[in-house]
Amino acid sequence: MASSASVHGMWSSRLMFILAATGSAVGLGNIWRFPYVAGENGGGAFVLVYLLCIALIGIPIMSSEVLLGRAGRQSPINTMFGLAERSGVSTNWQLLGWLGAASGFVILSFYGVIAGWAMHYVVLGASGEFGGLTGAGAAEMFGNFTGNAWLVLLWHAVFMLLTTFIVARGVGEGLERTVKYLMPALFVLLVALIGYAVTTGGMGDALAFLFAFNFDKLTGGGVLIAMGQAFFTLSLGMGAIMAYGSYMPKDASVIGTVTTIALLDTGVALMSGLVIFPLVFANGLEPTSGPGLMFITLPLAFGQIDGGLVFGTIFFVLVTFAAITSSISLVEPAVAWLVEHRKVSRRAAAATVGGLAWLLGLGSALSFNVLSDFRLPGGLDFFSTMDYLSNNIMLPLGGMLIAVFAGWIVKREIPQEELGLSPGGYAVWQFLVRFVAPLGVAVVFVMVFV
Ligand code: PHE
Repeated sequence: MASSASVHGMWSSRLMFILAATGSAVGLGNIWRFPYVAGENGGGAFVLVYLLCIALIGIPIMSSEVLLGRAGRQSPINTMFGLAERSGVSTNWQLLGWLGAASGFVILSFYGVIAGWAMHYVVLGASGEFGGLTGAGAAEMFGNFTGNAWLVLLWHAVFMLLTTFIVARGVGEGLERTVKYLMPALFVLLVALIGYAVTTGGMGDALAFLFAFNFDKLTGGGVLIAMGQAFFTLSLGMGAIMAYGSYMPKDASVIGTVTTIALLDTGVALMSGLVIFPLVFANGLEPTSGPGLMFITLPLAFGQIDGGLVFGTIFFVLVTFAAITSSISLVEPAVAWLVEHRKVSRRAAAATVGGLAWLLGLGSALSFNVLSDFRLPGGLDFFSTMDYLSNNIMLPLGGMLIAVFAGWIVKREIPQEELGLSPGGYAVWQFLVRFVAPLGVAVVFVMVFV
C-alpha cells in the first residue's frame, strides 16, 4: 500500500524521531526568543499562559501533526491531499500544507539572521571580546555589531548557505548524531550557567520575575504572543513535525513521544530564562531589551567565569547547531513537496527554497541598521512584521486547522489506529483536539483582533 512507506526513507527508530523532532523544537526559540518575549511582556503571567498553551494546545496539535504525517507518509502538502481524499472530503485541505510551507519560509527568512548573529558571537567569544565586559559595554558591543549591515549580511548568508547545503544532501544520520551530542552538551552548559547565575545575586529577582503571576502586566496582545511562542518553540502549525512524522516508524507511541519532546523543549526554555534574567537584574539591564537580550547578557557571564573564553565559544557554537537543526526542519516541508511533485532533485529544491528565504531575509537583516527607521503598514519594522505574521498569526491559524482536520474531518480509523490509545485515552485526546486546542486559538484571535 502506498501509505505504508515514505518516498523519502524512514527514521531508523523511535529514538531517531525523538532526536530529529527535538532538534527541530529546541533552537533559537528557546534560548533567544523565549527570554526576550517573556521580558517584554512582564514575565510571570506571560510564562504561565505560555505553559498552559504548551500543555493544552501545543501537545494536542503536535500529536495531530505526527499522526497525520505518519498516516500520509509524504510532504505535508501531499499528506493533507491524500488524507482528505481517503476521508472523502475536499482536497482543498491541501491548502493547509501550502500555508505551512509559506510559514516555514517566512520564519526561515528572519531565523537565518539571528542564527548569523550567534555565529558572529562564536568569533567574538573565541577572540576574548567577552572578558571584563560591563552591562553597558555588552549592549554597546551588540549595537556596534548589528549596526554593521555588511557584517550582519555576511553571517546571514553563511548561515543560509549552510542550511541549504545540509538540506540538499538530505536529512539523515548526520542530524541524528548532531542532536544526540548537542542536546546533552547544551543541557550541561545551561546547568553550569545557572550555577553561575546563582552567584550573581540576581536569582531571587529573576525567580520573582518569571514565576510571580502578576496578571496586571499581561495584555491581550501579550496572550497572543505567549500562544505564538508556544507554537514557534514546538515547531508547530507549519508541517515541520508532520514532515518528520512521515518518517516515523509505526510501532512508536505518538502521545508518549510528543510529551517527551514538549518537556525537553520547555525545560530548555525555562533554563535559558534562569540563566538570562539573573544576569539582567544583577547588571542593571532591562528585561525589555528586546531581540538583543541574550546577546547582551550571556557575554557578561562568560566574561566572569573561569574558562569563559572556551565555554563562551562552545556555547555559541552549540546555539548555532541548535539553530541549524531547527532551520533544516523549516525548509523540509517545501523541499519534500518540490521533490515529490515537481520531480526536481533535492539539491535544486533546497537551493530554490534557501535562496528565496535568503532574499526575503535581507529585509530582516537590515532592520537593525540601514532600515531601522523603516515601518511597514501595521507600524512595525520589517523583522518584527515577519516575526509577528508568522508566529502570532500563521502558525496558530495553521495549528488550529490541523486540529480541526485531525479531530473532525479525517476518517476516524486514522487517528484511532495511529494513536493506539485505550477508549478512555482516546476520548480525552479527541476532546482536546476537537474543542480545547482550536477554541483556545480562536478565543485568543477573537480577543485580540475583533
Ligand atoms: N522551534 C524552533 C525554535 O524554537 C523554530 C521552528 C519553528 C522550527 C517552526 C521549525 C518550525 O527555534
